[in-house]
Amino acid sequence: MKHTVAIYPGSFDPLTNGHLDLIDRGSKIFDELVVAILRNPEKAALFSLEERVTMLEQQTGRWKNVRVDSFEGLLVDYALRQKAQAVLRGIRAISDYEYELQMALMNRKLEPRLETVFMMPAEAYSYLSSRLVKEIARLGGSVHGLVPESVEERLRRRVNGVAPADGRGHSLRASKEKARRSG
Ligand SMILES: Nc1ncnc2c1ncn2[C@@H]1O[C@H](COP(=O)(O)OP(=O)(O)OP(=O)(O)O)[C@@H](O)[C@H]1O
Ligand SMILES: [Mg+2]
Repeated sequence: MKHTVAIYPGSFDPLTNGHLDLIDRGSKIFDELVVAILRNPEKAALFSLEERVTMLEQQTGRWKNVRVDSFEGLLVDYALRQKAQAVLRGIRAISDYEYELQMALMNRKLEPRLETVFMMPAEAYSYLSSRLVKEIARLGGSVHGLVPESVEERLRRRVNGVAPADGRGHSLRASKEKARRSG
């Protein structure tokens, strides 16, 4: 019998309820779903890789066919190593479509055996992104209902200047100061 494995890649900085909505949908149609955090040294993240892994593991334990991993380099290479047949991506609005189409077609060019599958979140999450969540938290707004409660708590601590234990994520206050200093 066919065993389908899909990779759900992203930065998950931080995990939102939109991501969880997609993981739930993906877990229903694939035998195995690997949520894979892209390790991108170029992009300064608010939460360290370890923190993002922890957030995801805490929230995805309820799905027995979902596991959490991280990767570096080309997604198609990672997908082949994982013996995955598909990549799962979310489409929120038309604005996601252009970039996602480009990525999907480029990945197909690189590895024709790998299919990209798009899913739409519940309407309530169709305007939700990690970037916006970070912005709201930084400006003192409530992100209740947009992220799991433990993530809400982590965001609160981080915007109040608590640096991660491994010193690798960035405190928002520190990055704001840095931005101010550099003009
Ligand atoms: N609310 C959402 N509904 C559906 N799909 C989503 C949602 N948020 C993110 N995704 C999808 O999850 C995947 C990983 O996204 P990513 O980690 O970049 O999250 P993001 O919220 O877009 O973060 P950022 O704002 O930093 O880009 C992408 O396919 C993205 O389209
Ligand atoms: Mg994004």
